[in-house]
Amino acid sequence: MSSSTQSQRALNFGAGPGMLPVEVLEQAQKELLNFKGTGKSIMELSHRGKEFETVLEDAKNDLRTLLTIPKEYDILFLQGGASSLFAGIPMNLCKDENDVVDYIVTGSWSKSAFQEGKLYCKANKVVDMEPQKFHTVLPAQEWKFSEHPAYIQYCDNETIHGIEFPGDDITSVLSSKGVPIVCDMSSNFLSRSVDISRYDLVFAGAQKNAGISGITIVIIKNTLLSKTKSNVPSVFNFSKKSQMNSLDNTPPTFNIYVTGLILKWIIKQGGIKEMERRNKIKADTLYSFIDNSNGFYTCKIDPKYRSKMNVVFRIKDNPELEDKFAKEAEKHNITDIKGHRSVGGLRASLYNAVTIDATNQLVSFMDKFMKENQ
Ligand SMILES: Cc1ncc(COP(=O)(O)O)c(C=O)c1O
Repeated sequence: MSSSTQSQRALNFGAGPGMLPVEVLEQAQKELLNFKGTGKSIMELSHRGKEFETVLEDAKNDLRTLLTIPKEYDILFLQGGASSLFAGIPMNLCKDENDVVDYIVTGSWSKSAFQEGKLYCKANKVVDMEPQKFHTVLPAQEWKFSEHPAYIQYCDNETIHGIEFPGDDITSVLSSKGVPIVCDMSSNFLSRSVDISRYDLVFAGAQKNAGISGITIVIIKNTLLSKTKSNVPSVFNFSKKSQMNSLDNTPPTFNIYVTGLILKWIIKQGGIKEMERRNKIKADTLYSFIDNSNGFYTCKIDPKYRSKMNVVFRIKDNPELEDKFAKEAEKHNITDIKGHRSVGGLRASLYNAVTIDATNQLVSFMDKFMKENQ
């Protein structure tokens, strides 16, 4: 990357669509008018041609390698955002609307999944952390599972509330119920190692660590594919998508191409372990600065569940000071730092493309702002 490109790029801490690696953008730019000597852009190539076939197969193979996805799982690229799966999953996996689904509600996104699910099944809240403002998670011994749920669904990282389940431990609790485990990993997908074999279905909207908005990646165990109801509309039908290799209708070809570039970028950087290493450094740096600011900055999330991807924080619970912070941050090229409109405060999203250096620059700015506004 040239130094002029570098200086023009914002330090984007947005929660999604999030920052993309500059190498990926440059590669897409380079290939935009003439993809691999075809004289056409990737956006102008047939989804049934051999060039796109290679893009799709590469993306699937690279994802399989990066996450060590066992052969008993298929990878689907669906259209519509992750929200479409809030309906698509019960449509596929519940026999009828009398089936019970257990939802673990730890933030806005799992709450939305529960509310949408109610339209297609008997949705049961196993635990609801809203009365605790989604700041922590009650111990699993206090969760109330139903007798025979069709499956259990949870969200691994709540993007708005900044709360994340550490590691895969939660799956040990859930697997004791003996029913499929469904996980929304939209905002921490590809950020850390994950044992896919512990899950039956993992889904992620691409626009955080895996690409651009418009596609949702689904990793699904073959045993669930055979349970898909046949009267589900084709665009949502997991079994049909799998049989047709996500090509039953025209897929979002450019989006799949960008995801493919990102997967190759991650491999080149050293793989998921390297992403995890960098993400831990970034999150530790920011949380430790917040915790050592003598109460000027605060993060109210239970330290055990603090998200490594979306760090939410306040400045003396003072919205005016937070507005001032966001405005001054812009002058330092630090953008998209405000909290979600439903919760206020501030939020720094530390996705894979956000560098350790960018995080250090944010912390330096926070230090300067604190000294000037104490
Ligand atoms: C964890 C999580 N789930 C679901 C969604 C919904 O994604 P989409 O806007 O692609 O429907 C988001 C969006 O930010 C999210 O962060």
